[in-house]
Amino acid sequence: MGLLQDFAAPLVEGFSQLGLASQIAVAVGGFLVLTVVLNVLNQVLFKNPNEPPVVFHWFPIIGSTITYGMDPPRFFKENREKYGDCFTFILLGKKTTVYVGPKGNDFILNGKIRDVCAEDIYTVLTTPVFGKDVVYDCPNSKLMEQKKFMKVALTTDAFRSYVPIISDEVVSYFKRSPDFKGKSGIVNLPPKMAQITIFTASHALQGKEIRDKFDESLADLYHDLDMGFTPVNFMLHWAPLPWNKRRDHAQRTVAKIYMDTIKARRERGETGAQDIMYHLMNSSYKNGTKVPDHEIAHMMIALLMAGQHSSSSTSSWIMLRLASRPDIMEALYQEQVDNLGADLPPLTYESLQKLPLNQAIVKETLRLHAPIHSIMRAVKQPMPVPGTKFVIPTNHVLLAAPGVSASDPQYFPEPDLWEPRRWFKESPLAPTIVREGKAGIGAPEEDDGEEKIDYGYGLVSKGAASPYLPFGAGRHRCIGEYFANVQLQTIVAMTVRMFKFKNVDGSNNVIGTDYASLFSRPLEPAPIYWEKRDKEWE
Ligand code: HEM
Ligand SMILES: *[C@@H]1O[C@H](CO)[C@@H](O)[C@H](O)[C@H]1NC(C)=O
Ligand SMILES: *[C@@H]1O[C@H](CO)[C@@H](O)[C@H](O)[C@H]1NC(C)=O
Repeated sequence: MGLLQDFAAPLVEGFSQLGLASQIAVAVGGFLVLTVVLNVLNQVLFKNPNEPPVVFHWFPIIGSTITYGMDPPRFFKENREKYGDCFTFILLGKKTTVYVGPKGNDFILNGKIRDVCAEDIYTVLTTPVFGKDVVYDCPNSKLMEQKKFMKVALTTDAFRSYVPIISDEVVSYFKRSPDFKGKSGIVNLPPKMAQITIFTASHALQGKEIRDKFDESLADLYHDLDMGFTPVNFMLHWAPLPWNKRRDHAQRTVAKIYMDTIKARRERGETGAQDIMYHLMNSSYKNGTKVPDHEIAHMMIALLMAGQHSSSSTSSWIMLRLASRPDIMEALYQEQVDNLGADLPPLTYESLQKLPLNQAIVKETLRLHAPIHSIMRAVKQPMPVPGTKFVIPTNHVLLAAPGVSASDPQYFPEPDLWEPRRWFKESPLAPTIVREGKAGIGAPEEDDGEEKIDYGYGLVSKGAASPYLPFGAGRHRCIGEYFANVQLQTIVAMTVRMFKFKNVDGSNNVIGTDYASLFSRPLEPAPIYWEKRDKEWE
């Protein structure tokens, strides 16, 4: 006792001599230290054997938010090594359970509707951007019907009509852009690819009338909508902040532009168009109700927001990868000369099928640069994890990260190597699924021998046990996969006809990834050196 007093007395005396501000600072500091100590003790002493291990963290609430946010794939990889395929981390105060690998993908993405729920997580972000009554602002059964409307419009006939539209947009973009004047130059590529993506997607999916509006008002409005799609809005979606006010104004304005366009097209009595908007104007729910105009408008926004970011990021990565491997860009050009003819006739849907390397470029880029690194679900009922003693409680969020298995050496030899030819059966780097002929270029796309299931929007593979799922799986699986492939393959094929790319320093390096936005993309600036292939394009 005497000893303690000897220690404490000078401390108390010193404390009383401090000014008020310093006293408060010391008290707050002491409180923080106590919180950290309690948080650490809690982790060390109270491990629940029926829940996945928790990633060690110093601070409550903040938890692992920062290390996760800076580089999610690295975070998954490092913690998987420490804790196994299934572990929990604290993301902004929320217990978030990651389950990686094919089993984890299947557990989360094929979860039953009474167990897992996407809309609970996404709606705060998406509803103010898309608008009411669509996607995550309606029961899942209604989303399934909406996805079906969109999917049945994405037919081979529609794709056949899209390829010339997309090719023309690409050529006309490069011809009129001041950044591509002359014989050669250097350009920060991602903003250019974002523009090419929006011009091509809006023209193909939403018709020429909407496409033309992207030269004027729509580009800025979509930019404002985009600002609503930032990760901080998971918490601040409701706040009257400047970017949220612009988001709300843009949502109303864009929805009105679509509704006016729908009305005009209907009054004109237009027939025979192939775009999705036109198809939706002529669709009815199962109960016989026609899809209301405001829902069509909101689905149009959702389509461009969902597809645009993923496709734009992917097209940037493709071009940056090609700049790092001019030999492959050359091989792509040669493939077109060999398989389509030296005169390089206008590109068609059929000609894309004759360009296996061109197809492999998209596949391999999505393997290493899938734009969606984290897929989240709310847990609605306690979920036992098969083969373990874990039960995931309802206060957890589940997180699937299919990108982890896509870069796992167990499935993909030399996983960090970007090598499009690994998608050919005979490649020494081909993954097992490709060697067995179940996936890859030339493998049957639909009939891969796997069991199929219909969640309401058409047949998809029943299992999600593939190590390669850049388009997700299960009831929320992407409906845009084939469109994205047609769009990206056409953009690549046309760009290769016009240009040679290389890195500014001539190296094989690639730039790092920006994880700050919802969809991962290349860090900027990402400059490349371009050179026109032919006088024709100058
Ligand atoms: C490279 C391009 C793309 C990639 C990598 C991609 C990826 C994905 C992924 C991973 C999901 C599942 C999300 C989840 O389970 O929470 C998804 C869903 C979806 N995607 Fe895509 N996507 C792409 C392009 C597109 C395009 C072009 C469209 C539209 C034409 C589109 C429309 C959708 C829709 C409607 C959903 C369904 C959302 C749901 O049911 O909850 N995507 N996409
Ligand atoms: C018909 O179904 C749609 C989609 O679920 C729903 O929005 C609409 O209110 C329903 N209409 C009637 C009359 O029940
Ligand atoms: C869609 O349009 C076609 C031809 O214009 C018409 O025959 C058909 O009845 C329409 N379907 C619906 C659901 O309105």
